[in-house]
Amino acid sequence: MSTRTPLIAGNWKMFKTCSEAVSTAAALVKSAADVSGRDVLIAPPYTALYPVSEVLAGSRVSLGAQNLFWEKEGAFTGEISAAMLASAGCRYVIIGHSERRQYFNETDETVNRRIQAALKGALIPVFCVGESEQARDSGQTFSVLDKQIKNGLKSFFAKDLEKLVIAYEPVWAIGTGKTASSRQAQEVHEFLRSLLDKSLGRELADSIRILYGGSVKPDNIAELMGMPDIDGALVGGASLNADTFSAIVHY
Ligand code: PGA
Repeated sequence: MSTRTPLIAGNWKMFKTCSEAVSTAAALVKSAADVSGRDVLIAPPYTALYPVSEVLAGSRVSLGAQNLFWEKEGAFTGEISAAMLASAGCRYVIIGHSERRQYFNETDETVNRRIQAALKGALIPVFCVGESEQARDSGQTFSVLDKQIKNGLKSFFAKDLEKLVIAYEPVWAIGTGKTASSRQAQEVHEFLRSLLDKSLGRELADSIRILYGGSVKPDNIAELMGMPDIDGALVGGASLNADTFSAIVHY
């Protein structure tokens, strides 16, 4: 039986001013107060991290950022370091989201550098992978994921990756309302775990949490979570409203 603690994560993307973020976070803290046996995380935009951290202090909800830059500090206008995120109260950081890859030219190599920086800065990376619709339709899902995982985790030792979280987000399911079926998602999660087994060993492969993301909603979360290799969800649109996200957290 799996000993992995489920993780339900909300990715707020580029939504919410500071005051909107604070009020949503406050509502979530209340509604998630009774949740047990699972971890809950929200990732607001950078500007809201610190004020939201004050709302989350002492609660069951953790804070994460949506990206980071790998350098420690320096003349890198517009960038944010791991230490800055930690000082704003973050425990987690999302890395390699498909929107970053698609619109901001992130590659497996830059994703790898970001994961290194996160781990060095004692942040837990939520490392996103996923195939495009075209890749799925042409039967390349597994080869695309194999490459993303191998390159993203290149030169790490198993002991570095004990806390790593992976998020499988098929690009065709993000924000489209088209969720992968629980069987489709399970098939990929099982494949990802077998890759981890080959490169990092059985023990780590069994302990790393693999989240599913892509149009997760209150009405499909339970079925997804019923799959043996799905250890949580990375939720975009449905995490923006505290009641809706709370329903997902309480699946
Ligand atoms: P969605 O986004 O839930 O709105 O599909 C998921 C994500 O991009 O993390």
